[in-house]
Amino acid sequence: MIEAINLSKTYQAGGQILAAADRVNVNVARGEMVAVVGHSGSGKTTLLSLLGGLTRPDSGQVLIDGVDIWSLADSALSELRNRKLGFIYQFASLIPTLSVLDNVCLPSTFGPGLDNLIGTAKELLAQVGLADKANFYPAQLSGGQQRRVAIARAFISAPAVILADEPTGDLDEETEREIINLFRRVNEEQATTFVIVTHNREIAAQTHRQLVMKDGVLDAAI
Ligand SMILES: Nc1ncnc2c1ncn2[C@@H]1O[C@H](COP(=O)(O)OP(=O)(O)OP(=O)(O)O)[C@@H](O)[C@H]1O
Ligand SMILES: [Mg+2]
Repeated sequence: MIEAINLSKTYQAGGQILAAADRVNVNVARGEMVAVVGHSGSGKTTLLSLLGGLTRPDSGQVLIDGVDIWSLADSALSELRNRKLGFIYQFASLIPTLSVLDNVCLPSTFGPGLDNLIGTAKELLAQVGLADKANFYPAQLSGGQQRRVAIARAFISAPAVILADEPTGDLDEETEREIINLFRRVNEEQATTFVIVTHNREIAAQTHRQLVMKDGVLDAAI
C-alpha cells in the first residue's frame, strides 16, 4: 500500500548537515495500523511528510499502490494526495476564515465530490464530539477542539491512508480514547491504512506494529 525504499532527506541549517531521514525502508500493508515513536527531533514528522508527498526526498522512493509518487508531475502528485491520503498535522492547520463545518468539507472540494458532503462532515464532527460546534470558527475553539476538527477533516474523503502526526497530543485521556476508537473503527470497517506518530504508549500498543525513529533511522521496536 505505502512503501519507502532507501528514503533519505538531509537538512542544512546553522552550518550543520542533518540526516532527518536516513535510508528508511518500510512497507505498510493495506489495512495495517503502524505506530512510529521516537524522541523529539528524530525525524518522525519528516518521515510522514516524505511518505505523504509533501517533502521531496534527496534520494529513495515512496510507492503508493505501486506508484512511485516522487516521479509524478506536481499536478498528478496533488491529485494522488487528494484522492488517497488524509493528513493530521502535528500543529493546528485550520483555515481561520472558514467555519468548523467548512474546514471539514474543504479537502473534498478538491476531489471528486461527495454525494452527501455536509451530512458526512456533520457525522464526523459528531464522532469527534463536536456536533454542536459546526458553525463556530477555529478561533472560538480550544486547542484540543481545533485538533479534533483537523482529525474529522482528514477522514472526509475516506482516504485509503491516514498519516497522523501526534493526533492526540493535546487531548485529555477520555477524548484520546474516543479518537483511538474512531481510528480503530475506520481501520476495521474500511481497511484504512494508518501511520500514526505518537508519544503515547497506550496508542502505540493498540496498533499492529510499532516502529522507532532514531536520528533519522527507522527500526522495528524491540
Ligand atoms: N525545514 C527544516 N530545515 C532544517 N532542519 C529541519 C527542517 N525540518 C526539520 N528539520 C530538522 O530535522 C530533524 C527532524 O525533525 P522532525 O520535525 O522530523 O522531528 P520529529 O521527530 O517530528 O520531532 P518532534 O517529536 O519534536 O515533533 C530535526 O533536527 C529538525 O531540526
Ligand atoms: Mg514532529
